[in-house]
Parts: sequence; C-alpha cells; structure tokens
Amino acid sequence: MTSPPASMKVFVCAASLRAESLNRKLAALAARVAGETGATVDLASMREFDVPIYDGDLEAAHGVPDGAKAFQARLAGSNAFVIVSPEYNGSMPGGLKNLIDWTSRFRPQPFDGRHGLLMSASPSMVGGNRGLWALRVPFEHLGARIFPDMFSLSAAHKAFAADDLSDKALRARFDKTVQAFLSLAEAAAHYPCMKRAWVEFLGEPPGQGVDRVDAA
Ligand SMILES: Cc1cc2nc3c(=O)[nH]c(=O)nc-3n(C[C@H](O)[C@H](O)[C@H](O)COP(=O)(O)O)c2cc1C
Repeated sequence: MTSPPASMKVFVCAASLRAESLNRKLAALAARVAGETGATVDLASMREFDVPIYDGDLEAAHGVPDGAKAFQARLAGSNAFVIVSPEYNGSMPGGLKNLIDWTSRFRPQPFDGRHGLLMSASPSMVGGNRGLWALRVPFEHLGARIFPDMFSLSAAHKAFAADDLSDKALRARFDKTVQAFLSLAEAAAHYPCMKRAWVEFLGEPPGQGVDRVDAA
C-alpha cells in the first residue's frame, strides 16, 4: 500500500460529546494513523459545532448558526473527512444528523463530491455498524463520496490498551482502511469525477421554482 502524499488535508470528527467517549478515542487513533501517512490532520469533536435544532424560521431570520459555519469551514479546509460516530438506537445520533442538515444549507453544498470515511465504536458486538449504514444515506444524498469500507470497533470498552487497539491484527486492518481511503481521496484530487451538478431531489421535473440544482 503506497502512502498518500503530504498534501492531503484530513478533517476527523468524533460525533460524541462524552469526555470518555470511545468514538473520540477511535477518532484520535484515526488522526494519528492519517498523520503518520504524511497527511495534515484537523481533529475535532462535536462540542465545537453546537447548533440548535434545525428551524427554517431561525434560518430565515438569522441564517445558518455559527456551529454549522465552523463545520463547513473545517470541511472546506480539507480534502477528505472522517466521521467517527456512536450508534444510537440502531441509527445515527440525532445531533449529528441535525448538524448535517444545517450544514447542507450552504451553497455550494459542502458535502457534494467530498470524500468521506465512516467509523464507529460501541460496546456491542456489531460495533455501531448499523448507525454507519444509516449515516451513509444523508451523506450520499448530499453527493459525498463515502468510502465503501467502514470500520466498526466491537466490544470497544475492552478494545483499547491506553490509546491504541490492543489487537494487532485489528490495528493492521484499521491502518489499511485509513490508508486505502486516503489513497482514493488523493487520487480523486487529481482525477475529479465528471459529475458537476448536485440535484437536491433526484427525479424532480426540471422547471423554474422547483429546481434545486447546485451546479457550482
Ligand atoms: C441513547 C442511546 C442509544 C444507544 N443505542 C445503541 C445502539 O443502538 N447500538 C449500540 O451498539 N450501542 C448503543 N448505545 C450504546 C453506545 O454505543 C455506547 O454508550 C457508546 O459508548 C457511546 O459512544 P461514546 O463512547 O463514543 O460516547 C446507545 C447509547 C445511548 C446513550
């Protein structure tokens, strides 16, 4: 596996607010592994992107809130993003979906064409993987290029020794996932996809007034 070059900038965000979050631990490891490939890493947590529940009236009166502006700016400053998210009730955390909804209001739409990798950690035996499948839906709807492989850490409360995964084979799999993702994102930076326009509601009949095509 060849390493992606140092020009890559990766935004890594842990989607749990908890100080002792297992997902934050996994995000920190992802940031470390990405950094070891030579990429520049911007590690964040949801605390930095506090937003109220999406409200169209609030948006009309005050625009998009600062938390979503900050999230958009961190995305815009990177070539690729990694979301490390808990699974809540078989799906993604509501706070994360709410942040995605607010951020999707910017034009050009910030997720369109952006490469993303999804990871999760949970004490359960499926490691929060169902939440990641749910998370693919809004991201892919928004035109993000979500990496086919995902990494879900099962029994995460027992998986760490200090700040690292204690299982060496699992750590090797983790490294490979991060490296493969960064290699694809790096290749895409040189060979951008020909798709140029993001259409908010696929299949909507074209016409003024109902068109939601973001061609930027
Ligand atoms: C509201 C809620 C719902 C949860 N639902 C699930 C679930 O569906 N699947 C799962 O594996 N864990 C579930 N958990 C347990 C979380 O995976 C566990 O608390 C995990 O440590 C949270 O992530 P964090 O450590 O990064 O904060 C849930 C926890 C909460 C608080």
